[in-house]
Amino acid sequence: MKIAIGSDHAGYELKEIISKILKDSGHDVVDVGCDSCLSVDYPDYAVAVATAVSEGKVERGILICGTGVGMSIVANKFKGVRAALCNDLYTARMSRLHNDANVLTIGGRVVGKDLAKEIVNIWINTPFEGGRHLQRIEKINFIERKVINK
Ligand code: RB5
Repeated sequence: MKIAIGSDHAGYELKEIISKILKDSGHDVVDVGCDSCLSVDYPDYAVAVATAVSEGKVERGILICGTGVGMSIVANKFKGVRAALCNDLYTARMSRLHNDANVLTIGGRVVGKDLAKEIVNIWINTPFEGGRHLQRIEKINFIERKVINK
């Protein structure tokens, strides 16, 4: 799977770990930065990943900041992006099954590294359930087209 990944300084260390795991598992990982623990602005990296997902250049995106909140706020402003803030396994699983989330945001200062690895693993490997959930995604798409972009 082609996956874009990005973080700010608060998520940098975890990003490096997750990026390596994904690459070692055979995924095609596009790392948009940041490149150190020096303070940066999370919207810059959220824009890079969300744009790649919105334009279909990658299938999924992963964004890590301190809480995951800022990254999710920015990513969800992009057409076709369904970003889910998942700092637990249940939300990670359900965000795929019911919401077909295509961007995962994680709080690098909220979850430990081992839990973060499990969250990513379950999120990457859980399919969308479709069925009644598809009509809800279509309603989101409708809102995006008719309400937000009018
Ligand atoms: C950076 O200090 C912090 O504000 C950021 O990583 C993130 O948590 C914002 O939502």
